Amino acid sequence: MRRPLPVETEKAANVADDDSTAPLTPMTPMTPAAFAADAEIERALDTVDFDTVTREFKSQDAFIYLEKFLPATVTEQLIAAARSVTPNVNRNYLPGHKQGGSVSRHTLDELAPFVAELYRSPALMRFLERLAGEKLLPSPQDDPHAYALYYYTRPGDHIGWHYDTSYYKGRRYTLLLGVVDQSSCKLEYRLHTRNPGVPQVDGAVAYPPGALVFFDGDKLHHRITPLGDNEERISLTFEYVTDPRMGSWQRFISNMKDAIAYFGFRQVFRQLLGRTKR
Ligand SMILES: [Fe+2]
Repeated sequence: MRRPLPVETEKAANVADDDSTAPLTPMTPMTPAAFAADAEIERALDTVDFDTVTREFKSQDAFIYLEKFLPATVTEQLIAAARSVTPNVNRNYLPGHKQGGSVSRHTLDELAPFVAELYRSPALMRFLERLAGEKLLPSPQDDPHAYALYYYTRPGDHIGWHYDTSYYKGRRYTLLLGVVDQSSCKLEYRLHTRNPGVPQVDGAVAYPPGALVFFDGDKLHHRITPLGDNEERISLTFEYVTDPRMGSWQRFISNMKDAIAYFGFRQVFRQLLGRTKR
C-alpha cells in the first residue's frame, strides 16, 4: 500500500504544529543532486521484498536492519558530506554513558545541505511509512536531532544503553544509516523489553556504509559498543515523528539533553538566541 508523499506530509506537519514553539519548515524544490538521489533510492527499493521486510519489522517490535540499503552513489555523497563538516564536530563526554562527537542539523543545513535533502527524500519516506504503517513527518525545524551525524573517532567512543525517547506527543522513529565504518563497534539491541509477556531477544549488528537500521525509539533498547584503537566510525541519524507537537516541559528536557549529551548549548539554543538562518 502506497502512503502519501512526504511533500504532502510536510504541509501536514506545518498545520499540525499548532501548539509547538517550532517554526514552520520551508518548502524548497529539490536540487539536482537530491532529485538524483531520490531516483536512485526509488530504483533500489524495486529490489526490496516489502512483505518480508514489513513482517520482520513487525515481528521485531518495530525494528529492522538491512545490511545493504543505500545506493553506492548516495553513500559516497554522505561520506563526502561527513568529511566536509569534520571541523564542526562537537565532542561530549558523559562518564558512564557517552563519549563521542556529533554535528547537528543546524550545521548540516548550512554546510552539508545534501543530508537535509536526503532526509526529505520522498522515496525514502514512502518506504519508511510503509514499514511503520503510519504517516511520518519530519521533525520541526528547531530540533537539532532531526538529522545529525555521529562521529566515533577516539578509542572508547561509545553510547550506553538507552531508548530514543520521544518527547513529542506522537511516536518518534529513528533511522540510522552507515556512513564510515572501519571499526569493531556494534549496535547491540534488546527487543521486546517493554512488551509484557514476550521474551526479550538480544542482538548485535555492525552497520557498514549504506546499511539501514529503523526502529521506534521508545521500543528499542540499544547501545553502541566502544571504539577500539585506530578505528573510525561515522553514522547518520534521521528522526521522524507521528505528531510534531511537544509540550514546553518536554521541550526543555529535550533541549537540555541535546545540549549536554550531543551538540552543545550554542547549537541547541541558537534559535532562541536568534542566530539561525531561515
Ligand atoms: Fe539511540
